Amino acid sequence: TAGAKLIVVSNREPCLHEHVADGIRMVRPASGMVTAIEPIIKAVGGTWVAHGSGTADRLVVDRRGRLGLPPEAPRYTLRRVWLSRKEEEGYYYGLANRALWPLCHTVYTRPYFSRAEWETYRSVNEKFRDAVLEEAEGGAAIVFIQDYHLALLPRLLKDVRPDLKILHFWHIPWPNPEAFRIFPWGEELIDGLLGNDLLGFHIQYHCNNFLDTVDRFIEARVDLEHFRVFRGGRPTWVRPFPISVDASQISRDAEGETVGRRLAGFLKELGEEHGKLSLFVGADRIDYTKGIPERLRGFDLMLQRHPELVGKVCFVQLAAPSRTHVEAYRHLNEQIDALVDEINWRHQTDDWTPVFFLRAHHDYYAVLAAYRMAQAVVVSSLHDGMNLVAKEFVAARNDGDGVLLLSRYTGAARELGDALLINPFDGDGLADAMYRACVMPEAERRERMERLRSQVERNTVYDWGLNVFAELERLLGQEENG
Ligand code: G6P
Repeated sequence: TAGAKLIVVSNREPCLHEHVADGIRMVRPASGMVTAIEPIIKAVGGTWVAHGSGTADRLVVDRRGRLGLPPEAPRYTLRRVWLSRKEEEGYYYGLANRALWPLCHTVYTRPYFSRAEWETYRSVNEKFRDAVLEEAEGGAAIVFIQDYHLALLPRLLKDVRPDLKILHFWHIPWPNPEAFRIFPWGEELIDGLLGNDLLGFHIQYHCNNFLDTVDRFIEARVDLEHFRVFRGGRPTWVRPFPISVDASQISRDAEGETVGRRLAGFLKELGEEHGKLSLFVGADRIDYTKGIPERLRGFDLMLQRHPELVGKVCFVQLAAPSRTHVEAYRHLNEQIDALVDEINWRHQTDDWTPVFFLRAHHDYYAVLAAYRMAQAVVVSSLHDGMNLVAKEFVAARNDGDGVLLLSRYTGAARELGDALLINPFDGDGLADAMYRACVMPEAERRERMERLRSQVERNTVYDWGLNVFAELERLLGQEENG
């Protein structure tokens, strides 16, 4: 693979350009996938093929839809793929986010299937194929595909360019075959993924689920001893690679001036008095997999049980609007608004508000500022592939203090056992854990945080990237040597 060009492909772009009152603003979208992949491609260089969803994206690219990033000192090329509204509707909002997202997360939101959306999904995957083929013209390339938007792309590429090395990382869970079996186009989806040389998930459990699914759904030989699948005589290896963050960069940025300014901004927004309280912090896209109502109810229950905390604690939820064209997300927003009103109405006093729900896109530095002011960060996902909020929070706490409450149903819980592990479906348990975070002695907080930090420093996103590429190299070498 030495000398081959790296091409990353994903739906979500590392940055988008929006028209604002005084010109064009660059925005980094809230996405665990972007958080993880960007440091890698900055370090290695190459081309990132992704959708252009910003209102001003077309104004800042060349004729082929390319631009160098970061603009001040380009380290890689972004190649945009333009999608029509209809394509976005069928492929992104539809098949990816109304069907595959709930199907894979299995959180009691029923997936919605439509054949027209499946067809759009396929044709958008073909569109990405064409862009990748252009970028890979005339040379060796490693194509690194991201996530569930592009499940058909590996096969589409392998069919026409068998020489390409194709690897794919699935950033969300893979469900067990019982959950997967309702997907109407399961065979084609899996066949698409088996175009990969290497397919990665966060944890072994998802790899096992995938192999079980393959076994159940299509004609292929599943080799459980070596974790690979043979289809048409060619192997696809399936491996766990727990993704992570750039811990030392986050740690440095958390001390910087911009974070200081954002911190001051928050204190103004909340009111100085609230800033002095024990703050619980959440930072998520508004998504039904994140357990936002569950954590608010847990907080409510804690206040009901411990009235002595009234006026002493406060929940600050940073909440980035997401996928709001999908009905389930609109409902969730309404449900959360009602819940926040109810909790605030029940407990608030003349000079104290228990919950601040800050619905906005907060930039990277603001999120770091929120982590730094937290007594505790709550990650209460009902199900999550990894969850990088947990790791970012830990990396940002150079002061060695702060409590992490972490759902057992995240990939991160497998590594971060020193967090207070919670079951977000158990409201009482959640309230107890929140209370524990309030009263935990400083020495225990620090011991736990120290162990969490050394874990996050041990496995950074660069280790992740190295593992992925080293494994590809090793497996391909092994194959060539018979
Ligand atoms: C998850 C997915 C990413 C996605 C992100 C944000 O983390 O794994 O692929 O980019 O959510 O969602 P969005 O739909 O805004 O890209």
